[in-house]
Amino acid sequence: MPTRAAPLPHHIAIIMDGNGRWAQRRHRPRIIGHRAGAQAVKRCVEFCLQRGIEALTLFAFSSENWNRPSEEVGGLMKLFLGALEREVDELHRLGARLRFIGERSRFDPAIQARMHAAEALTASNPKLQLTIAASYGGRQDIVHAARLLAEDVAAGRLLPEQIDESALSAQMALADLPAPDLFIRTGGELRISNFLLWQMAYTELWFTDTLWPDVDAQMLQQAVDDFATRERRFGLTSAQLRAPHPGNTP
Ligand code: IPE
Ligand code: IPE
Ligand code: MG
Repeated sequence: MPTRAAPLPHHIAIIMDGNGRWAQRRHRPRIIGHRAGAQAVKRCVEFCLQRGIEALTLFAFSSENWNRPSEEVGGLMKLFLGALEREVDELHRLGARLRFIGERSRFDPAIQARMHAAEALTASNPKLQLTIAASYGGRQDIVHAARLLAEDVAAGRLLPEQIDESALSAQMALADLPAPDLFIRTGGELRISNFLLWQMAYTELWFTDTLWPDVDAQMLQQAVDDFATRERRFGLTSAQLRAPHPGNTP
């Protein structure tokens, strides 16, 4: 019998959590944990490029994270700008296409300009679709998509009865990518924290106590190996999945 290769996720979405605790355990300020977290991002991108994962979406900063102490938010913004200044050329060289989802207008103009430049520079790169969710919230994403559809209806471009799943999907973030098939959350919390609520309807979930700055290829491989053992039924029965497709029978 031919051996079937274990299914590899096409799109991995990650909540990179645990930076603050990583620093606190070392009696260091939280920002040190965020800095170490940025190094872990590089290891994660490298892993995806090496394994041929097509899309990676990283939750870097949520809509709600703006409410953290201003010192931490300020430190994160500096780190973000620095990473944009230093890392984009290397990502481009590696063939990654970089994009950002979330409420961009809330960022400083210097950060917005760098985001735009990074997207333009890497727009035709084929190797890895790398999306950074920054000032992103899943609920806000759904509200935004609903508003766009409402505008189309108000302008007479769309009938209410034409609003279906694909119409709404088309207005959501990540519309041009396959839905994430594997979700990873580090840092031990078992929740979604307003990440990709719509897009993760059938995503396989994987949680670990590992803190984000400690992430390495071995941990990521564990998640991918676990994914390979999952039976994705999408509402069907196991027997249905095992049955040959009608078109395949002689
Ligand atoms: C995740 O790490 C990074 C951001 C939310 C920006 P945290 O800063 O939430 O780290 P913990 O959860 O407090 O350890
Ligand atoms: C989720 O982590 C957001 C990011 C990792 C960017 P949080 O640390 O903000 O989530 P909660 O507050 O524990 O739910
Ligand atoms: Mg956290």
